[in-house]
Amino acid sequence: MRVAHVEAMFPILLDERIYAFIPTRRHITPAGLAERFRKLEAGSPDPGEEWLNWCLFRRDDGSAIGYLQATVSQTDRAAWVAYVLTPGAWGHGYATEALDWLLKHLAIAGRVDLARAQIDSRNAASLTVVERLKFEKKMDVVEDGVVDYVFERLVRPEAAS
Ligand SMILES: CC(C)(COP(=O)(O)OP(=O)(O)OC[C@H]1O[C@@H](n2cnc3c(N)ncnc32)[C@H](O)[C@@H]1OP(=O)(O)O)[C@@H](O)C(=O)NCCC(=O)NCCS
Repeated sequence: MRVAHVEAMFPILLDERIYAFIPTRRHITPAGLAERFRKLEAGSPDPGEEWLNWCLFRRDDGSAIGYLQATVSQTDRAAWVAYVLTPGAWGHGYATEALDWLLKHLAIAGRVDLARAQIDSRNAASLTVVERLKFEKKMDVVEDGVVDYVFERLVRPEAAS
């Protein structure tokens, strides 16, 4: 994810449906989104943390469809993962494909053992994605009456057996 991607990403991230169950705010100007991308590109101010962000494009026509994130904590050897797709790209298995790729990437990079995801309990599509990739529900987080679930998975489940 680079500032240079803003032109392609801005229109696909405008749809309000994307933000129904996630804390991320919708940027209503390209300049606002560029500011956010600039911060992400600069990386975490905490030396024990690494921010990894990718824009997602379809292989066949190169169109932008969303993004993928991992916040890596070197101290915990764990990464919080997140994925966002534009509604026109929902329902094709892209989020599952992207998260599966991310888990493999994290396994190869070797800096974390665990992947974690925090998901609004009403976000049925996202729950399907992590359940399909064999994440386990670890706890509930309740804030202002909204329940989130925290899921975890070893990035290399075969390493545990
Ligand atoms: C969550 C999200 C990434 C899923 O993307 P996607 O590419 O459509 O996901 P996939 O196609 O890989 O898998 C979604 C699965 O959920 C299912 N699903 C979709 N809506 C559903 C619903 N309302 N109830 C139950 N299942 C649902 C789909 O049918 C699909 O399963 P299937 O392949 O067995 O049919 C996408 O909806 C999104 O970007 N939402 C907004 C941002 C967001 O909430 N991100 C997650 C943050 S935790």
